[in-house]
Amino acid sequence: KTKLLVDVDTGIDDSLALLYLLASPEAEILGITCTAGNVGARQVAINNLAWLELCSASDIEVALGSEIPLVEPLRTTEETHGPQGIGYAELDPPRRTLSDRHATEVWIDAARRHPGEVIGLVTGPLTNLALALKIEPELPSLLRRLVVMGGALNHPGNTFPTAEWNVSVDPEAAQIVFAAFSGLPEERRPLLCPLDVTERIEMLPAHIHQLAELAGCHEFEWLRAEDERGRRSTASNAVVRHVSDAVRFYLEFHQDHGQGYLAHMHDPFAAAVALHPEIAVTTPAVVDVELLGTLTRGSTIADWRGMWGREPNVAVVTDTDPAAFFSHMIGRIAALARE
Ligand code: BDR
Ligand code: CA
Repeated sequence: KTKLLVDVDTGIDDSLALLYLLASPEAEILGITCTAGNVGARQVAINNLAWLELCSASDIEVALGSEIPLVEPLRTTEETHGPQGIGYAELDPPRRTLSDRHATEVWIDAARRHPGEVIGLVTGPLTNLALALKIEPELPSLLRRLVVMGGALNHPGNTFPTAEWNVSVDPEAAQIVFAAFSGLPEERRPLLCPLDVTERIEMLPAHIHQLAELAGCHEFEWLRAEDERGRRSTASNAVVRHVSDAVRFYLEFHQDHGQGYLAHMHDPFAAAVALHPEIAVTTPAVVDVELLGTLTRGSTIADWRGMWGREPNVAVVTDTDPAAFFSHMIGRIAALARE
């Protein structure tokens, strides 16, 4: 099994990443840590606990991390992910409480306990990992590999013209992490999934239909009409219902921003790369974060040609097969929904 530590700012696509991982028999989730980003860290924690309860996975530790970025004032984005971060989904309030450990402790403890074995996956701002590095600077060599969803390299940003959300929420943290993870052998370099590839992972209503079919939920209906905005699905299967309610909000957000009636599955893709790096075509690069620019703060800069004279510090995921990814992910979540 692949041992995993997951840090998230749940988030609609973070939610699907969690469901995919929970549905993957080859994944052993050692802990889920919460960072502020899409919504505040405490709401992220509630969302994580609620998804786990829905999937009968309440034994996995969920720990709160930083509630604010290192330097930047906190920004959240309810307009993208809904007031609670899970679109139109209304999950039952979790009965279980949070771990009494801090996110940094969960990461450091697991990495020390299983040196060289744990894959770290971050699908939110890198605040918690930057803080953990201050306490345990050996983390890069203790982890088996780090996988990050973040950055926009040869691609427009989704937050500012050249900046991607996760990096721009906490640029100092991202800069600290990219610097700390440099100098690793090639096969252990962090795998970076930037918008360049994740914006090609387009979820459509057809994918949710497919999920419902495979889950045996034949009465499922997709509510498309404008006047049905905000209406909840009545599907009998709870996973199908909540996923569809979450994703519908995300599709409407993308549509309202001129991207079409689709939703980018940034975080589930990064989760799949964490478990199956063979789905990713990668290119080595030096990636750093602009901290000072008046127009470009929080942007990721990639040196593809060695102009800075530095060794590559990341393997950038530059290509994949989106259709293969979707059939893998939908198949997994459908199996979980059927249980
Ligand atoms: C990232 O930003 C968040 O809104 C998503 O959850 C994803 O992790 C994409 O830029
Ligand atoms: Ca996220």
